[in-house]
Amino acid sequence: MKFSITSVLSAASAVVLLALSAVPASALPAAPAAVQNIEKRASEIKGLNNYSCKPAKGQRPIVLVHATLLTLNSWDDVAPVLIKRGYCVYALTYGVNNAVPGGFGGLNSIESSAQELSDFTNNVLNKTGSSQVDIVGHSQGGILARYWIKYLDGKGKVYRHVGVSPINHGTTLSSIVTIAKTFGIFYPSQELFDKFAPSFYEMVNTSDFIKKLNAGGDVAPGVIHSNIATKFDEVVTPYQTCFQQDAGVTNILLQDLCLLSLNEHLTMVNSNVVIQFILNQLDPASAKTANCLSILKGF
Ligand SMILES: *[C@@H]1O[C@H](CO)[C@@H](O)[C@H](O)[C@H]1NC(C)=O
Ligand SMILES: *[C@@H]1O[C@H](CO)[C@@H](O)[C@H](O)[C@H]1NC(C)=O
Ligand SMILES: *[C@@H]1O[C@H](CO)[C@@H](O)[C@H](O)[C@H]1NC(C)=O
Repeated sequence: MKFSITSVLSAASAVVLLALSAVPASALPAAPAAVQNIEKRASEIKGLNNYSCKPAKGQRPIVLVHATLLTLNSWDDVAPVLIKRGYCVYALTYGVNNAVPGGFGGLNSIESSAQELSDFTNNVLNKTGSSQVDIVGHSQGGILARYWIKYLDGKGKVYRHVGVSPINHGTTLSSIVTIAKTFGIFYPSQELFDKFAPSFYEMVNTSDFIKKLNAGGDVAPGVIHSNIATKFDEVVTPYQTCFQQDAGVTNILLQDLCLLSLNEHLTMVNSNVVIQFILNQLDPASAKTANCLSILKGF
């Protein structure tokens, strides 16, 4: 892991708190240096978003979809491994609210972010001449494709979908409050959140959004779904709500692969055990056991 989640969160804390106190956007300071440095790293994921890449026979382009408050840079451990394996790998930063400095993704309404994923992925399909992609999505990024397939124009365009702590059934209001407290907000009013980060209250398990997402079933028919969750998830609670109920879905708890894995919600994408799980889902024919030894492994 190349940056500290805690430093990101405390930088985020300052900017989100400012934003929520309804200061006009023009009066807000520029993003803190730590955040700007993270943004710069976008160009450092070498080989990402290469539209000259042509998927090998039997492979599809892979689209990586980040979590709430993160950006495409959160894939800086996962993407290089996939690129080294010869995959054509694409990632977007979605859901940025320009009134909130820092460039944090995943703030806007989940419906609008699903539309951004649609536009991005349609372009990937077009440029690579492919008819389907595989998607790896983290947290909120693990449900955008499901919305795209069910309610927008995504039907038939996804072959495999791998969810990393995906927020399939939403989370509790108290988890949203916990995140808000991490960000230095005492008790967030829904009105304030809806103004600056409407995705937050849409992720509550009783929201209209979550009801609509799961109406008629929590899988996308025809898609090969798999999910990995962590016991130490502080955002998607209880962690079992990451899982999809259909009999055909692979649902795995990280600690069943490696009891020693302490990764929580945001650092799931920095775990070598999770990376091995992702590789195995994308290419079952060359799967290698994902276990504690994966931690020691270079890919
Ligand atoms: C992009 O893909 C093309 C075609 O595979 C390759 O020749 C080129 O080196 C790639 N560029 C980067 C920056 O990886
Ligand atoms: C990509 O989009 C362009 C412009 O809309 C279109 O002309 C072209 O046929 C598309 N290519 C593929 C492979 O879908
Ligand atoms: C939402 O979460 C709360 C707390 O775990 C639970 O009591 C409630 O039954 C859940 N509601 C739905 C619709 O899942």
